[in-house]
Amino acid sequence: MDDETVDLQVDRAHSARMYDYYLGGHTNFLADREAVGRVLAVFPSVLVAARANRAFMRRSTRFLAESGLRQFLDIGTGIPNSPNLHEVAQGVAPDSRVVYVDNDPIVLAHAKALLRSHQAGHTAYIQADLADPESILSAPTLLETLDLNRPIALSLNAVLNFIPDERGAYDIVRRLKDALAPGSALVISHGTRDFDPVVVQKGVVDVYRSAGTPIQARSRAEVARFFDGWDLVDPGVTTSYRWRPDGEEAPPDMTDAQAAAYVAVARKPLT
Ligand SMILES: C[S@@+](CC[C@H](N)C(=O)[O-])C[C@H]1O[C@@H](n2cnc3c(N)ncnc32)[C@H](O)[C@@H]1O
Repeated sequence: MDDETVDLQVDRAHSARMYDYYLGGHTNFLADREAVGRVLAVFPSVLVAARANRAFMRRSTRFLAESGLRQFLDIGTGIPNSPNLHEVAQGVAPDSRVVYVDNDPIVLAHAKALLRSHQAGHTAYIQADLADPESILSAPTLLETLDLNRPIALSLNAVLNFIPDERGAYDIVRRLKDALAPGSALVISHGTRDFDPVVVQKGVVDVYRSAGTPIQARSRAEVARFFDGWDLVDPGVTTSYRWRPDGEEAPPDMTDAQAAAYVAVARKPLT
């Protein structure tokens, strides 16, 4: 992995670095912070929303590791922000094996932090596009790291927003689900405009589009559709901070409008 070959394009805002800034990270530049300023102007709770999303990743990963899952495929990983998914999974089960996937060379440049696995387990990184699921499923790194004949926890957190319907989001998720063994899990978090259509439509979407990143919010029913045919884990499709809260992460007065994201976990039926 050669960081010097990556063009960081620091003069334009970048979604992965904007998200890093939301989370309080340091892998961001002036153009990213200026774009975040424009998002904050229309959606002041974006920092709280991003942190609630990240906290959901941690809780859902811990839940699935405690449920016995030992293989994890995380697509749309983002710039490392500890604790990363493998740290959470391996904190429960050190032998957990994790494959990270992102299409962004900037994430690749920082991927070393994702590869510091517990020695009992293993982590790997693939640069690939969620829009091309075959390239992920057939990647030698994935096949060397994960056994597709055994259950895998597939997480698509805050990434399907970047796959508009016209790019075939539902077909992509169906293809990935079909490739997984019974007992596998699907984890999704997804931005919504259900609670504040005007703000999200006119503000956030415009900022991302002007940075060259198409973005689509989805309704509760549209998010639920990704799980068709699988068994939703209690409490089903809900907003990020309401999913099995452990009392530590969300502000006590948080609202659905501030979270602006639906999440859920489902399991592939055994028969
Ligand atoms: C908002 S971050 C979410 C990070 C992490 N999943 C989380 O929820 O904390 C979205 C990530 O998805 C990646 N991404 C966007 N579109 C993608 C695509 N088509 N294929 C793979 N990764 C993508 C971005 O590069 C970015 O790192």
